[in-house]
Amino acid sequence: MRTDYTQIFQDSAAVEKYEHIVYAPDSYWSAINRRQREYLRRLARRAFPYRRPVQHDFACGTGRAIRILHGLVRGAHGYDTSAAMLAKAQEVGAYAVMHQIDETGPVPTPVPTDAPALVTVFRLLLNVDEVVRDRAIAFAAQALPHYDAGLLVVENHGNAHSLRHLRHRRHGAKPWFAELSHDDVATILDRHGFTVVEQRGFALFTQGWYGRRWLRPIAQLVDDLATRVGLAGKYAVNVLYIARRTRPTLGSLASGDLTSTTSELPTVPSHSDSAAPADSGASAPSGSAEPAEPSSAEPERPRRDPDAESW
Ligand SMILES: C[S@@+](CC[C@H](N)C(=O)[O-])C[C@H]1O[C@@H](n2cnc3c(N)ncnc32)[C@H](O)[C@@H]1O
Repeated sequence: MRTDYTQIFQDSAAVEKYEHIVYAPDSYWSAINRRQREYLRRLARRAFPYRRPVQHDFACGTGRAIRILHGLVRGAHGYDTSAAMLAKAQEVGAYAVMHQIDETGPVPTPVPTDAPALVTVFRLLLNVDEVVRDRAIAFAAQALPHYDAGLLVVENHGNAHSLRHLRHRRHGAKPWFAELSHDDVATILDRHGFTVVEQRGFALFTQGWYGRRWLRPIAQLVDDLATRVGLAGKYAVNVLYIARRTRPTLGSLASGDLTSTTSELPTVPSHSDSAAPADSGASAPSGSAEPAEPSSAEPERPRRDPDAESW
């Protein structure tokens, strides 16, 4: 696991790579993003039939999850440690109030909003340590103090029970090769009183399969189909977990009691739900990307095996 994960995203070259290479329109990750978008937009309509939620996107990066849900939420707030990622999110049209948060210290506080809320934590848990994982889910617990407060959606983009695991012998010791099992995710969520109520997968095949011209159409077809019929939840490389708060946080803290101090620095003027994305206009996510390549600082990083990477 990398120890400089948070710092990597401060670099504008990394931001550009994430947005324009990892999430290039024809990339593996863009195909997954497209499937996630279809699913999440259906989920938002199904789970919030009477009142649209306010979205709180932790580690929002370039605002991929915010763009996915545009028009289906009353308001959106993005929280991230990287000013460069937040700036890119605004540049590419993520319609939300952005907040730069601290990397360490008290758990950041979500902007207070009326229920319901939808908290998204995408592409973060895999590559960070337990402290950051706990910060992210403790953040969510504040926005979702009880079962009816809304939903938490967490992404695991390196499922340990997927084809990608076959690479672990070769790449397991490398800093960019991390894996998370369903149990790992459930355990982190459980510590904060969340229970997984739904689980969906978005790609059974690894990135390497999409890199071979003759394999790609087959992999894409199978992944499209498996996603659509909901068959990929267990063995997909990329999994979304939908969770609800079912009890207070473990330990001495009661629900809603998590010590937290506002540490976000709004990078755009106001703090209100009315920053909500306008209705309708589901702007297609142009694809955010993943962390930019850590340039020359990473000679050990394999260049030819995309399955070794999990930014
Ligand atoms: C791989 S990107 C994911 C961005 C976005 N959620 C997505 O799925 O496209 C990881 C993001 O986590 C942010 N990040 C890294 N360390 C963090 C921390 N300790 N707290 C909050 N965000 C962090 C980075 O700045 C980066 O924007």
